[in-house]
Amino acid sequence: METNLLQGDCLELLAQIPDNSVDLIVTDPPYQIDNTKAGGKSALAKSIQSMNNELEAANICDGFNKSVLDQMVRVMKNINVYIWCNAKQIPMYLKYFVEGLGCAFDVLVWVKTNAAPLFNNKYLTDKEYCLYFRRGGVL
Ligand SMILES: C[S@@+](CC[C@H](N)C(=O)[O-])C[C@H]1O[C@@H](n2cnc3c(N)ncnc32)[C@H](O)[C@@H]1O
Repeated sequence: METNLLQGDCLELLAQIPDNSVDLIVTDPPYQIDNTKAGGKSALAKSIQSMNNELEAANICDGFNKSVLDQMVRVMKNINVYIWCNAKQIPMYLKYFVEGLGCAFDVLVWVKTNAAPLFNNKYLTDKEYCLYFRRGGVL
């Protein structure tokens, strides 16, 4: 089996991949972090503000940029994709893949035993989510 490793901006590289040529996508795109709810003035909030600004400017956060999702669907033989995300992103991915494309789905959870005790009016950040979507017969 031939392995082809491409390094670069996924927004550019995805466009070069032929239709119906990919068996599986496993992706860990940027998480959508809402600074204002994370106590916008905290040291943590300040430290990630510039990254958030860049992501917003590139329109990457919102649904991993719908055009990227469209590209991912275009290149897959059958929809068969794992997407790491945070809780805030779950509804938009479900809307896109389940409501929009009729996919089956599952939610996988990575439970961490050593989470930092940063509560700040939310549940302990001791887990990450990985959504799985498929459509059609995927082996
Ligand atoms: C949630 S992190 C994933 C981290 C990765 N799983 C790791 O262990 O290093 C999201 C990553 O997406 C990268 N990224 C953001 N926009 C991108 C783009 N247009 N093309 C490729 N990577 C991008 C960021 O630099 C960041 O490293």
